Amino acid sequence: MHPATANRLKRLPPYLFTVVDELREKAMERGIDVIDLSMGSPDQPPPPEAVEELYRAAKQEGNQRYSREDGKIEKKLKEVIARWYAGRFGVELDPKTEVLPLIGSKEGIAHLSLTFLNNDDIALVPSPAYPVHFNGAIMAGGILYNLPLREEKGYKPELKKLDKSIVRMAKLLFLSYPHNPTTAVVDINFFKEVVDWAKGKEIIIGNDLAYSDIVFDGYKAPSLLQVKGAKDFCVEFHTLSKSYNMPGWRIGFCVGNREILSALKKTKSYIDFGLFRAIQAAAIKVLSGDQSCVKRTVEIYRKRRDLFVKGLKEMGWEVEKPKATFYIWARIPLKYSALTSMEFTQLLIEEAGIAVAPGTGFGEYGEGFIRFALVENEQRLIVALERIRKILEIEG
Ligand SMILES: Cc1ncc(COP(=O)(O)O)c(C=O)c1O
Repeated sequence: MHPATANRLKRLPPYLFTVVDELREKAMERGIDVIDLSMGSPDQPPPPEAVEELYRAAKQEGNQRYSREDGKIEKKLKEVIARWYAGRFGVELDPKTEVLPLIGSKEGIAHLSLTFLNNDDIALVPSPAYPVHFNGAIMAGGILYNLPLREEKGYKPELKKLDKSIVRMAKLLFLSYPHNPTTAVVDINFFKEVVDWAKGKEIIIGNDLAYSDIVFDGYKAPSLLQVKGAKDFCVEFHTLSKSYNMPGWRIGFCVGNREILSALKKTKSYIDFGLFRAIQAAAIKVLSGDQSCVKRTVEIYRKRRDLFVKGLKEMGWEVEKPKATFYIWARIPLKYSALTSMEFTQLLIEEAGIAVAPGTGFGEYGEGFIRFALVENEQRLIVALERIRKILEIEG
């Protein structure tokens, strides 16, 4: 790192995904065919209609210019998002003030911290968590306060146990269910309890619903905004990356409280110029479509989940069968339990040719676990299971 790098960057924990990438590349240079289950980057193609619309809109005159809030496509996208929300969650949103498109939800989450945290403000962030939830707070110069998520508590934070002095300083709370990396899910009662707890406390809640559609076995992920009164101090983040296999397109959105969104919009107005109009046009197409593409994607993940969980269990590696997300959160097996999650990740890459995410990449309470992302096809997953069996030295 350059010695003059700003302290806010020096304070960040090492980004372990970069370390995993380096280890994976080195293994590949040695000729190992690495099965990459490390990043949550969907491998399926986007809906064909999105690609066609992108192509059509990219050629259209005017779409190359900077995006403007009062543009036709921009207005339509917000309306379509509001309609999608009403259809999916039964939550009514004013497209003008309660919807804000983002250059991916990660961007919006980072900027929420930048928008609201002063140096003496606390961001309450579950641990483990998707890294931008805590890294965004650190980069914004706020105080990060970890909320440990424990398996025996269903990976839910114990908000009522928080010290009064912490709560007094808290300005932001991040939540995210279905949860990455633990795959935990909640029902609407959990959100009701959170809203009840937060009422009158001047805490803004940002709920990251990236995996709202990647759900199995009849489970339906609720929205925090379904709770009465939630719109008074909550916002929710969504992405097209997972449901529509468009991670590289960089499009997501934030909805909810209009004052929070207006402040977030102000931050963004100093930093970015919005989204390429052709991408907005493609998003309009998929969000207003019949959503059968989402069902197909979920079915692919369900099959992979069933195959992988069964395979791990057969070799004695006990893991939860997730109700949502395309991850498997796995405790490091007894044989290797003396290793840190980073050491075990290194071993898996170097000796089994499988890249995973170390639990500590998601914060200190991720130690003892690794995360598999099921973003390779079934044939590759079968090979991965075979290789894992070998390093666990299990016959069969
Ligand atoms: C919980 C969670 N939120 C947000 C994101 C990032 O989404 P986007 O591509 O919209 O930035 C991810 C990506 O893995 C995620 O797991």
